Amino acid sequence: KSWEFIKTEVTGEKKNVAVITLNRPKALNALCNGLMKELSTALKAYGKDANISAIVLTGSEKAFAAGADIKEMAPNTYSQCIQGNFLNDWTEVARTQKPIIAAVNGYALGGGCELAMMCDIIYAGDKAKFGQPEIALGTIPGVGGTQRLTRVVGRSKAMEMCLTGNMINAQEAEKVGLVSKVIPPDQLLVEAVKLGEKIGTHSNLIVQLCKEAVNTAFETTLEEGLKYERRFNHATFSTIDCKEGVKAFIEKRPAKFINE
Ligand code: HXC
Repeated sequence: KSWEFIKTEVTGEKKNVAVITLNRPKALNALCNGLMKELSTALKAYGKDANISAIVLTGSEKAFAAGADIKEMAPNTYSQCIQGNFLNDWTEVARTQKPIIAAVNGYALGGGCELAMMCDIIYAGDKAKFGQPEIALGTIPGVGGTQRLTRVVGRSKAMEMCLTGNMINAQEAEKVGLVSKVIPPDQLLVEAVKLGEKIGTHSNLIVQLCKEAVNTAFETTLEEGLKYERRFNHATFSTIDCKEGVKAFIEKRPAKFINE
């Protein structure tokens, strides 16, 4: 399939990791409607593709994404935003059942930072910069910058970032838990794919349950979350893959998962 704003490729030794590259270099990957539509389409397709175990989302060395497309949103009016449900179709990323790894080099600003936060794991190149600069435009984040960021880095840091618009660098992002690893820029994609491949050695079925269980921690109380986790844990014992995983351990051999 040929795309205008993204590039897609399937990689890894077992060809089970999809890489989606945001590809609008002249606008620093500003997230225009056309780009977000293509991203949703690609994510839906990989979500259904049984050969794909994990998805890596990346940008260029200069920018993961410099935000929503400011020029495109300039004519927005309140009534159009409400009636057109502005930004609603961005959430496909967060709805994807398969693990998504954001590999962030350069700027992840505004909607770009929010897009990275909709992914499950963020790896950053050591020159990456994260920020929510919407306040300087006279608007505020609209896809999680006040919500996901606050849950991840805590109130003080999130408040500072959202109210000042100041960026934090990769090292600080790692320190506050926004990013799980900082990597030299030229190694970033390789490491992100390796991470996808490692996840892909496990049962896709169980990985999906595990992702859902971790995400539940952000949705509910500890008591409810623990109940949810326990029931998912119980459910895994009804799967062929769990029987196989346990048997393989006892027989000291690698497990052969069939995602059933
Ligand atoms: C549209 C953008 C853009 C954006 C950059 N460009 N960011 N176009 N939307 N978000 C375009 C520039 O207009 C310019 O095009 C080209 O990309 C290169 O950008 P420069 O500014 O010349 O590059 P540089 O000087 O290196 O500065 C990089 C930068 C800066 C610091 C990242 O571009 C910047 O501050 N961008 C805006 C960041 C931002 O405010 N993001 C939040 C957006 S709002 P031309 O054609 O002039 O060469 C958002 C909210 C979403 O995301 C939800 C709530 C509404």
